Amino acid sequence: MRVVLFTGKGGVGKTTMAAATAALVAAQGQKVLLVSTDRAHSLADALRMPLGSEPVEIDPGLSALQLDALARFEQGWSVLRRYLVDLLGGAGIGAVAAEELTLLPGAEEILALSAVRDHAASGQWDVVVVDCAPTAETLRLLALPRALQWYLERVLPTHRRMVRGLAPLLGGATRPADAVVDAVSQLSAELLGVQALLDHDGTSVRLVLTAEAVVLAEARRAATTLALFGHRLDSVLVNRLIPGGGDAWRATWAAAQSAVLTDVETSFPGLPVRRAAYQGAEPIGLPALVAMGADLYGTEDPLADPPAGDLLDVRRTPDDEGERFELTIALPHAERDAVELARSGDELVVTVGGYRRQLALPGVLGRCQVTGADLAQGRLRVVFRPDPDLWPTA
Ligand SMILES: Nc1ncnc2c1ncn2[C@@H]1O[C@H](COP(=O)(O)OP(=O)(O)OP(=O)(O)O)[C@@H](O)[C@H]1O
Ligand SMILES: [Mg+2]
Repeated sequence: MRVVLFTGKGGVGKTTMAAATAALVAAQGQKVLLVSTDRAHSLADALRMPLGSEPVEIDPGLSALQLDALARFEQGWSVLRRYLVDLLGGAGIGAVAAEELTLLPGAEEILALSAVRDHAASGQWDVVVVDCAPTAETLRLLALPRALQWYLERVLPTHRRMVRGLAPLLGGATRPADAVVDAVSQLSAELLGVQALLDHDGTSVRLVLTAEAVVLAEARRAATTLALFGHRLDSVLVNRLIPGGGDAWRATWAAAQSAVLTDVETSFPGLPVRRAAYQGAEPIGLPALVAMGADLYGTEDPLADPPAGDLLDVRRTPDDEGERFELTIALPHAERDAVELARSGDELVVTVGGYRRQLALPGVLGRCQVTGADLAQGRLRVVFRPDPDLWPTA
């Protein structure tokens, strides 16, 4: 079972490439579900077919849908919010501040991924191709399940017993109804399910770009953030390449693109870089999309696995001074100044260019101190040595 998520800067051709890939894979005999999580819903336009929130077969082996279903746990979520507002209000926080605190961003967006997970788990499809929103939004979306889960675990009571335990502290007035407990458990289960889908070995991200310096710069930053959150890139698709020849204007563009294309190749070592030409007309409708897919992948497998290699790795590296561990995280293209590292109890907090990941440290590292860190060859390396206060002595 493969899940391939397509993302990239606005307008570069994500929807077109996702549809071309899905159409090609279906034509090769696999059962494919093509999903759009983008609320702009241009997938229907690219396919030239009406789509709904349930899969419709648009060709043998190829079904598609666009996710609209925000109603899914909206109800549960509003119960939870009302409870939180009461709870925080009861704790002496003003009603307005309490309202603001509970405007937890992104709970709605999780729905989209949650629905993708349900379809992926249905056993009906060999491949699920997801046409995502532009990069920034997609990155936020992919980071969300972990962030929300973290929040839920710490800020919200996750167990009935804990929830009950809070009531006396707050004067007993805010004992939650079962509906609240259910809403927390449901949200938590949805988050775990979505995270499992994202962490699944068969899930990877495909970055679509055009051969322009600004677009490449954004793609490089996206690669850093994807790696930070443990999402694997499987390839890079360069769209709208202008064929050389013809008049001076065209030749100039072709030369400029060719220079950027070289930078694309050096920017993503080890990753396949596939190319699609600027077509004479918009590639709309299945025949045009299948042709584009065939052009894009040639004789290569459109579902090839991402390259091997651990994004996150922990090793024991004892030396003369004693026990020592190294935790490394792939952070391609990250600049030294843009990386911040903090230790908070059993967590290592890594922030890169405004994106933060709270990494739960494996038990042994939880009993260590961070004694050094550096960034080299696209990896952040953090060195740990035993904390004398926590390390068991022989
Ligand atoms: N190789 C190509 N040649 C010509 N036109 C193309 C090509 N690829 C995409 N297009 C056209 O460019 C426009 C934008 O493409 P598309 O909708 O796939 O981009 P997108 O990245 O999904 O955009 P958005 O960020 O708005 O979701 C569409 O009209 C599409 O038909
Ligand atoms: Mg699109």
